[in-house]
Amino acid sequence: MSRFLIAALAIFSWSVVSDAPQYLFDKESQIAAGAQAFAQTCYSCHSMKYMRTDAVSLSGGIQPDQAPQWTEDSWNGHPPPDLSLITAAKGVDYVYSYLMGYYVDETHPSGFENIVMPGTQMPNPFAAMQGEQELVLTDPEVRLFQALKLKNRGAKSPQEFEDYVSSIAVYLEYASDPSQAYREHIGYYVLGFLAVMIVIMIALDLAYWKDIHGDHQ
Ligand code: HEC
Repeated sequence: MSRFLIAALAIFSWSVVSDAPQYLFDKESQIAAGAQAFAQTCYSCHSMKYMRTDAVSLSGGIQPDQAPQWTEDSWNGHPPPDLSLITAAKGVDYVYSYLMGYYVDETHPSGFENIVMPGTQMPNPFAAMQGEQELVLTDPEVRLFQALKLKNRGAKSPQEFEDYVSSIAVYLEYASDPSQAYREHIGYYVLGFLAVMIVIMIALDLAYWKDIHGDHQ
């Protein structure tokens, strides 16, 4: 019994470390927390121009009048892009992995390199929060979480940090497609309607064929 428990725990602990965001069951509050985290950690550099009137973004503190603006030639020609549509362009797993992918590299001017986008102009926004990761494997075939190990912990525990980054990624996914939740919502009604229709159709079918089947008996 205890061996079974340990195996189950091992599978669980393996599954919480991954290269895709972990969705909470209560996705709405995760999105709201992500908007807040984005306002704190990302909005100093990245604008969210299509979220100017979005209630979730506004209440998270992403105020349009505080949006950063950069000229084309700032940041060595790679200014922080607007992130309103980033997960539509590159996928939520990409964004999540990019954010989780900083490791110490003294040869890089900022002191950090990124496993997903080597040479990125974006300084590690999480150094104090996450602590320092180091690259322990250089085989490009291995998955992200196997190649990076936490050298020393930051202000957040690994799980807290993962939750924090997940919420940002899930908020950005929401921003790229805010009507997704509504579509999911009406999906239940569509399936309910189809279920009722199937019952009516079967009843109708039985009624139509009742006499004909009767003749052949
Ligand atoms: C100090 C400024 C700064 C902060 C803070 C910052 N970024 Fe960036 N970010 C940049 C710059 C500069 C780039 C452009 C990198 C490049 O093209 O080399 C960038 C690029 C990106 C990209 C695009 C990567 C790609 O593939 O094009 C994403 C996604 C991103 N940042 C997400 C975030 C998120 C989420 C946060 C908050 C947790 C954040 N950034 C905080 C400066 C910043």
